Amino acid sequence: MAVIVIVGGQWGDEGKGKIIDLLAEKAKIVARFSGGDNAGHTVINPYGEFRLHLVPSGIFNPHVTCIIGNGVAINPAVLLGEIDDLRKHGVDTSRLFISDRAHLIMPYHTLLDALEEERRSRGALGTTRRGIGPAFADKVARLGIRAGDLLDKDTFWGRLSAALEFKNIILTKVYQVSPLSLEEIYDQYCHYGEQLAPFIRETSSIIREAATKGEPVLLEGAQGALLDPDFGTYPYVTSSSPLAGAGCIGVGLGPRQIDRVMGVFKAYSTRVGAGPMPTELKDEIGDFIREKAHEYGATTGRPRRCGWFDAVAGRFSVQINGLSDIALTHLDIYDGIPSIKICTAYKFNGDVLTSFPRDVAILEKCQPIYEELDGWQESISGIRNFEKLPVRAHNYMSRLEDLLSCPINLVSVGPERRQIILVKPSTLHLDTLGT
Ligand code: GDP
Ligand code: IMO
Ligand code: MG
Repeated sequence: MAVIVIVGGQWGDEGKGKIIDLLAEKAKIVARFSGGDNAGHTVINPYGEFRLHLVPSGIFNPHVTCIIGNGVAINPAVLLGEIDDLRKHGVDTSRLFISDRAHLIMPYHTLLDALEEERRSRGALGTTRRGIGPAFADKVARLGIRAGDLLDKDTFWGRLSAALEFKNIILTKVYQVSPLSLEEIYDQYCHYGEQLAPFIRETSSIIREAATKGEPVLLEGAQGALLDPDFGTYPYVTSSSPLAGAGCIGVGLGPRQIDRVMGVFKAYSTRVGAGPMPTELKDEIGDFIREKAHEYGATTGRPRRCGWFDAVAGRFSVQINGLSDIALTHLDIYDGIPSIKICTAYKFNGDVLTSFPRDVAILEKCQPIYEELDGWQESISGIRNFEKLPVRAHNYMSRLEDLLSCPINLVSVGPERRQIILVKPSTLHLDTLGT
């Protein structure tokens, strides 16, 4: 299995949590490499049902070391709440570590996220308001505070005073709201620091050592390729890279140490927040998908926009991630739909586009060109053997493989850990998963 990066192939919420929870049974390490608590990874297994925002989805496997990598922005209050909830459910969190280089989400980040969204008004991005944009902006502006800073109160005081002095000018002079108290934030974060201290350490060496020994390591992505700040639907994107390449930087590995890159895709498309989505369905089929699949955000509860599979966007995602494998989830949601559409190209100003445009102004005007395939009528959620899937489900998958030029190696047919089908077990060396 070696080192596998697992990323979202679309606009997030593809079912990464479920796939990682399953693959973690064979892993030694599971490390989150980007994003923050804007992520919501649902895991349903014998411990219960969880929506993980920061803790890696491998935490339910007692032999797995879980790492929150340097590429993640951590809200300590959210993380402590999550650890507490896991412990209450009998989950062992003693093998969880936090990179001392990971940046922290501070109270002014969440406040500024909300104020900036309100300032944008009708042009709002629809962020999760978790302070992600402001926290990653501070990281590159060299104004951030890192987990390791909490371990030394003098360092922390110095960094916080410098950052807050500047933030309070923005808050009072630009947004005309009250300044935040240095002492209050300092006391609150010192308290978090004491609770988190046992988890905080240098983590890249743990991952490198395992990778060097050839031990199985999973790098858990957050969000999805089309929310990438460079390649996504800018400016309707998130603020850290969800792409496989960021897997290296977000944990401290080099590109030569990655063996496989698995993209998780839904059998259809969803998007939460603003920004173009060419295949969005604002009709009863979109509503049917949303209700059947409970497409409401795991972090914000917002209804997700639903639509047909977009193979133009999908192909682009395969390319920019360099995918070796695809895990296709939610295939069961299409049970009983008479005819299934796939977008194979866009129509724009009389032209046919087969590649994903850079400019959202173009994407907003793109009309999907669809190919239509027959659906299957039977329920597939109880099927565990690839050969037993209806021939029309096989046809749908082979057409997606052709359009995306990447093999589908896992098929998920329901939200629970065991609702999975290994298509080609030998390629992933997962044949002993015991599904
Ligand atoms: P993530 O952010 O990529 O981990 O995905 P989310 O957890 O935000 O959203 C995925 C949702 O789909 C969750 O409610 C999962 O329980 C559910 N889910 C995952 N895989 C499947 C599947 O194959 N079929 C169905 N019906 N639901 C699934
Ligand atoms: P997971 O890991 C889906 C979206 C937000 C918004 C945009 C920017 O669960 O797949 P941000 O708060 O990051 O500044 O918001 O990105 N977004 C997600 N959408 N799944 C996610 O994570 C997301 N994380 C951020 O809705 O459109
Ligand atoms: Mg999610």
